[in-house]
Amino acid sequence: MPNSNKSPLRNPRSKRPLRPVHIVGTGSYVPDRILTNADLEKIVDTTDEWITTRSGIKERRIAPDYICTSDMATEAARRAMDQAGIRAEEIDLIICATITPDMPFPATACVIQNKIGAKRAAAFDLEAACSGFLYGLEVGQQFITSGTYDTVLVIGAEKLSTIVDWQDRSTCVLFGDGAGAAILRSRGEEHGILTTCMGADGSQADILMMPAGGSKFPASKESVSAGMHHLKMSGKEVYKQAVIAMQTAAEEALRKCNLTINDIKCVIPHQANSRIIEAIADRLGAPMEKIYMNLQRYGNVSAASVAIALDEAAREGRFQRGDLILLVVFGSGLTWASCVIQW
Ligand code: UT7
Repeated sequence: MPNSNKSPLRNPRSKRPLRPVHIVGTGSYVPDRILTNADLEKIVDTTDEWITTRSGIKERRIAPDYICTSDMATEAARRAMDQAGIRAEEIDLIICATITPDMPFPATACVIQNKIGAKRAAAFDLEAACSGFLYGLEVGQQFITSGTYDTVLVIGAEKLSTIVDWQDRSTCVLFGDGAGAAILRSRGEEHGILTTCMGADGSQADILMMPAGGSKFPASKESVSAGMHHLKMSGKEVYKQAVIAMQTAAEEALRKCNLTINDIKCVIPHQANSRIIEAIADRLGAPMEKIYMNLQRYGNVSAASVAIALDEAAREGRFQRGDLILLVVFGSGLTWASCVIQW
């Protein structure tokens, strides 16, 4: 169990006890349309057997043209608000983690603010690719811990179907669309988010990226015809880095809380590849029954992946109030993050 010397939390520079932060509601949304591996066999030179054995993915959700990232995020946010029993006007801050915003600006978080009617809320997007939701939890937590805000909505939302290259079999089979959300508040008890760790290594930015559409390569006829507005990935290299970074991040979070993997009821990792998840479970010494996986149904939904998985695991009763859970993610940047929560 967590070291009791660490509670109540204290800011070393202040005499004021820091407020513990809890996830008081979660929600998620995925589009209805299912794209199976068999469907993909008709689009690119692939097989269900290859996709299943290499990634564990069986199907993914694809949003129709008329649904954009903010629509999925809004639905996930409403479900989280319902579960938390809070009204939109109570939200102080909205953080939307995404690499597929509705548009370069304004922030998708502002679009969501308008759609849910959270008139009082400040709103901004956060870009840490697949690590974005946990980066968002950490940022949101800081605002509550410090006493600046009381209620923060953190969302991970993606419409990756708009940036994958549907002719590139090495990437298009892996990704999907969806959104997950969490409401952060202090319930006043000691437990809640016990620790968060974040990291980045920009020297490896080029192994997973979308090269054009920013100030370096603005959209042009040439950039479009060169396919530079699609996601590019060196799969093998990303795989290697993902295993190392997620193992290290998970161990760091456990160490910071004086916990071992045996104390953890449920591990929720980034949902990119079942082989990556199995490798991490093995390295952490966690039996697979402890690991939550839904990538077989949704593929990799980047920032939304761990948010959707957290919501589904909670609703399925994979852990109860007071149980310890470990979240760990990895993504482009490179970025990684981990988080231990006493639910
Ligand atoms: O969310 C961010 C984190 N992202 C990730 O964590 C993804 C990390 N990477 C991976 O999950 C894996 O590297 C992949 C699933 C992307 C690929 O698995 P792999 O075992 O690393 O395969 P590979 O890229 O080495 O490809 C093996 C073979 C190649 O053929 P040759 O060169 O050996 O003849 C590929 O051309 O498989 C071929 N291939 C395919 N074959 C059928 C690649 N994609 C496909 C496909 N269907 N869809």
